[in-house]
Amino acid sequence: MSSTADPMKAAAVAVRENAYAPYSKFKVGAAVRSASGAIYAGCNVENAAYPEGTCAEAGAIAAMVAAGETELVEAFVIADCPAPVPPCGGCRQKLAEFAKADVKITLATTDGVTSETTVGDLLPGSFGADFLDQN
Ligand code: THU
Repeated sequence: MSSTADPMKAAAVAVRENAYAPYSKFKVGAAVRSASGAIYAGCNVENAAYPEGTCAEAGAIAAMVAAGETELVEAFVIADCPAPVPPCGGCRQKLAEFAKADVKITLATTDGVTSETTVGDLLPGSFGADFLDQN
């Protein structure tokens, strides 16, 4: 499917162009579709103080929350790498905060290789809000 035929891929491909990755040179684009159907995009934004950098998924989720939405129903992540880019541990936790376990996550390379997974498969046994409701 071409990037223009898949709006999620198109959004992730486009935002990846804006990634600020002068240190790793590893540009990532992410798109999330919220419960309303809107698509929010984010790219990684690195920093000379390396730990202050943020991931593409975090940017897309932040854009969704800033727009007043707190449920994502699909995500797409793309990078230029040999195999579909796996989200880091922190991003798996961030996705799990706003998505049900069966939500589809598409991981992609810029060469057109994709793989599909779910939030639950990315982060089994996750810590979530339920654990805070015990008192
Ligand atoms: N990165 C993301 O933005 N998302 C991922 O899923 C994997 C890694 C970024 C963080 C950093 O800017 C660069 O890729 C190299 O780790």
